[in-house]
Amino acid sequence: MKIAVFNNKGGVGKTTTVINLAYALSKRPDLTGGILVADCDRQENAARFLCDNLNDGLTDTRYSGISIMTIADNLALLQTAAEKYAYTLLDLPPALDDRTAKILAAVDCVIVPVELGSFAVQGIANVTAAISRSNTAFLGALVTRFDRKNSADVEMLELIRQQLGSKVFDTVIPQSKIIRNSISYRTTAAEYMGWLDPAKSFDQLAEEVIRRSTAIR
Ligand SMILES: Nc1ncnc2c1ncn2[C@@H]1O[C@H](COP(=O)(O)OP(=O)(O)OP(=O)(O)O)[C@@H](O)[C@H]1O
Ligand SMILES: [Mg+2]
Repeated sequence: MKIAVFNNKGGVGKTTTVINLAYALSKRPDLTGGILVADCDRQENAARFLCDNLNDGLTDTRYSGISIMTIADNLALLQTAAEKYAYTLLDLPPALDDRTAKILAAVDCVIVPVELGSFAVQGIANVTAAISRSNTAFLGALVTRFDRKNSADVEMLELIRQQLGSKVFDTVIPQSKIIRNSISYRTTAAEYMGWLDPAKSFDQLAEEVIRRSTAIR
């Protein structure tokens, strides 16, 4: 199952989601086969986070259940590699161009991380339109960087749930120092402070991703 994590808006938490979701999925005892992360962003943030020595091609990471590939422009190679894994997570750059369209068309479904803000709702329409043009399933919009103490965020969450209904993940990823700092320290949120809610939100996400992706299989 190949899942792209995509939003053409930058800084919404795509890479953070890929890293922490990959880690949470790799710890699931009910999944056979490991997790492949395909880093499609030329910045290679996910790859550099996961690997000490990054070579071209397909490689092991610091995590036993996670492999990485950085040559995701070769979609044929990606298809072959992905067959060996339970899940392949693709980290996309913040661009809505031909390359993105090709990648979206090559995956099974797409998760769209959304940071709630003034242009969030309009932005989602563009992204979901691109997903439906590519004939790929929209797995859901994932609200990230959510500040529950900010009434505007709370209202926007309600609005987005009204508009997209079940297409919004039940899981919400909070705006959190734990998540931000874990990236700075080059650990997953679970490794950094796994007993706290922000880290646990990725376990909840993993469970929901398994449930939703099994339903579209
Ligand atoms: N839930 C969160 N709480 C706090 N900080 C976060 C959270 N999610 C992401 N960040 C921080 O926001 C920044 C951007 O996150 P990230 O790199 O995951 O976004 P992105 O969508 O992949 O960006 P780009 O579009 O540039 O690829 C990073 O510094 C990251 O640590
Ligand atoms: Mg990124």
